[in-house]
Amino acid sequence: MPAAKKHPELKDFVRTKNDSMRALLQTVEKVLDHDVNVFILGESGVGKDYFAEAIHSCGKRREKPLVRIDCAAIPADLFEAEIFGFEKGTFTDAVARKAGKLEMAHGGTVYFDAVTSLTANLQAKLLRAIQDKSFTRLGGHEAISFDARIVSSSSTAVESLRNDLLYRINVVTLTIPPLRERREDIPQLARMFVARRKHGIDDAAMQMLMEHRWPGNIRELRNAIDRAVLLEETDVITPNALPSFTSDPVESAAEQQWTLEQLEARYIREVLRQTRNNYSRAAEILGINRKTLLEKRRKYGIE
Ligand SMILES: Nc1ncnc2c1ncn2[C@@H]1O[C@H](COP(=O)(O)OP(=O)(O)OP(=O)(O)O)[C@@H](O)[C@H]1O
Ligand SMILES: [Mg+2]
Repeated sequence: MPAAKKHPELKDFVRTKNDSMRALLQTVEKVLDHDVNVFILGESGVGKDYFAEAIHSCGKRREKPLVRIDCAAIPADLFEAEIFGFEKGTFTDAVARKAGKLEMAHGGTVYFDAVTSLTANLQAKLLRAIQDKSFTRLGGHEAISFDARIVSSSSTAVESLRNDLLYRINVVTLTIPPLRERREDIPQLARMFVARRKHGIDDAAMQMLMEHRWPGNIRELRNAIDRAVLLEETDVITPNALPSFTSDPVESAAEQQWTLEQLEARYIREVLRQTRNNYSRAAEILGINRKTLLEKRRKYGIE
């Protein structure tokens, strides 16, 4: 592959301060001007659709259509008609000829979302179309050329895909890291989501956003901000407007690689806050005596 051309518009599309994301964008930059099929992996809500759109709209086929095929939502018995199209009279409801999605994507990009949900039979048919670079409408004879970049995505393991299909659609793999592994991107994403409607996010609220585990990734962050914008009466988002994030605190501490002392200090501080500095009660909850609690409080500089 020749050296990658610079695509500054890509960096506007996906803004990041994270090293793995930067490496990912470098890979994307290399494929934009070439007909390389791309496979996008990542948890739900990390931005797989968003990346598919970035690849299409920054790439050489940007003037042509981007057609999304949701492989998990289309029933298996309708799938062929949906992607290959059909001729009039092929089945009872076929009152007129209809172009399929592969035909609509001609010259552009076809995005197979949740591609791992395709049945073995459909995988075989899709593979044939990719290998032959052509297909026919159901009930038709005319060979229609299949000319589109293929982008596919999955949030689960790819074992359910046959190898020869995987080999075709997975020339380059992009694995998008979960949001909790790129926390440095949370502030700018959050600010981007509030930008149009609100002026800011206060420090305490930002701290909450930084610490949450985000199992739903960027989608969850976006929803949390949308909701906060509605609930917050002033022009700054405060913790009150955020959902009460309940996740396993130990899991989240481990992900952030806290030391035992950090964890202990945080826990003591929180128990003191909840007992309104009732030291006897806090010591009882913590299972230590009052003297030990006071020592730890001093050690950790808890007010
Ligand atoms: N880098 C980004 N910058 C701004 N918004 C983003 C970014 N990535 C994702 N989003 C937004 O986050 C939401 C979820 O993204 P998207 O739908 O692409 O996730 P997904 O990985 O396809 O999720 P699923 O597995 O559930 O289909 C969307 O509203 C999208 O616009
Ligand atoms: Mg998606």
